[in-house]
Amino acid sequence: NPKEEFLNVPLLDFSIGSNRDGIREALGQLRQRREGDFPRILPFINGKPVKDCPHFIASDSPEETGFTLGTVGMVGPEHLEQAVEVLKGGFAKWRETNPALRARVLFKAADLIEVSRSELVALIILECGKPWIEADADVAEAIDFCRYYGKNALDLFKSENLCAYDGEEDHHFYEARGICGIISPWNFPLAIPCGMFSAALVTGNAVILKPAEQSTLVASRLFQIFLEAGMPADVGAFLPGEGETIGRSIVQHPEIDTLVFTGSKAVGMDIIREAAVLRKGQTHVKRVIAEMGGKNAIVVDDGADLDQAVKGVLYSAFGYAGQKCSACSRLYVHTSIHDRFIERLTTAVQSLVAGRASDPSVDLGPVIDDDAMKRINGAIASAGLEAVMGRLSADREAGRYIPATLFVEVDPDHKLLQEELFGPVLAAVRVDSFEEGIRLANAHEYGLTGGVFSRHPGHLQYAARHFRVGNLYLNRSCTGALVGRQPFGGFKHSGVGSKAGGPDYLKQFVLPRIVCENT
Ligand code: SER
Repeated sequence: NPKEEFLNVPLLDFSIGSNRDGIREALGQLRQRREGDFPRILPFINGKPVKDCPHFIASDSPEETGFTLGTVGMVGPEHLEQAVEVLKGGFAKWRETNPALRARVLFKAADLIEVSRSELVALIILECGKPWIEADADVAEAIDFCRYYGKNALDLFKSENLCAYDGEEDHHFYEARGICGIISPWNFPLAIPCGMFSAALVTGNAVILKPAEQSTLVASRLFQIFLEAGMPADVGAFLPGEGETIGRSIVQHPEIDTLVFTGSKAVGMDIIREAAVLRKGQTHVKRVIAEMGGKNAIVVDDGADLDQAVKGVLYSAFGYAGQKCSACSRLYVHTSIHDRFIERLTTAVQSLVAGRASDPSVDLGPVIDDDAMKRINGAIASAGLEAVMGRLSADREAGRYIPATLFVEVDPDHKLLQEELFGPVLAAVRVDSFEEGIRLANAHEYGLTGGVFSRHPGHLQYAARHFRVGNLYLNRSCTGALVGRQPFGGFKHSGVGSKAGGPDYLKQFVLPRIVCENT
């Protein structure tokens, strides 16, 4: 009921047998897919599959080299042109559609995602190597985005008279910007594209979804769900393709008004640069919403609750094998508790098991692909320091597994503390005071998330004021933002735009207008 207060959908409780059985059954069905039996995922334009794809790629599970989950048709430049032609027509009607009807598509999509929960969780586990609980959180966040933005849109589109005087009416209202190109990442393969897509759609834009190659199957299911939920066929296009080709063409296209991206800083900055160029036929200045990198820090203070801190740091650094822009990779530990804390953290890291994400007992799944494996292993090998390492599961066969890795007594200038690795690697630094910890935590180009473990009220207040990140978490992990409660997004070199899952997000997809009438 859209009139009810927004509440986050609860996570599945895997201590309940039927919840476990649902995921096991869905995993079993996906596992049956082998050569010749797996589905062929096609792009979609105007509600129809695109059959003349110039080439296909295989979407393999990172769990096991050669375990193909499906093949995916990649689009060529002519498909983008076809899609834009269709979407232009669709946009003209969708912009004028009653916002309540647009919101209804999101509410229906949320219900459909909920109905398909086990199937989607299993697909995320296998296509992206996300452990059960995190895959379920991804699905829950997608549901939340649809319900939250659906409700927000109902308020956003109320026209308001700004004039307090007789004889004049000043109507202030919002309308959609145009065609929106969404370039989504693989690490939240359902939640992030769903948030971007639903926000663009509910505000009356026509939308192109170009997902990361590594998570096309999940994105394709999402797109089909929106069609099933009543999205008009000429308002959405699903265009899988490589970033360098189709991604770039979307960014440069003169008739695409808004670009929404989550991914690396290098690509994000490239999009911002390209979007600033006015091209022939362009009627607007492009808007870019970009969520980019993170190299997030946690400060552990003198007198912190060490049990709480160990748990929070472990989850922040090694949840989804550190493959979150919100993950913690820098740790600043007060010298007075340093040795006690590091001793406990070391034992905890050594107990973490990396293995198949489909095995619910593992802590870390595989990393996403061979490039990631090479990059992360390269950084560990070239650190020149001895690492504390977690375990590798015996049942892992081929695949891309990196154990949880901790470096201690690292020099604050070491490259481990500079480069974003996007993997299960944490570097700890000893600091002489809480303030020094905050100063070093701030000394990075990124400013996405941060965390503090402390029991000094004054230090918590100091951190709230001086630890300059988009999302600061006190005495809890620095990942796992919830829609509507911890709107998510950073600043400095971490991104531009307002926070996803927050009250300002939808305003980025609309143009404010004023109609003044002398009455
Ligand atoms: N929103 C996610 C988190 O908070 C990151 O994208 O972990």
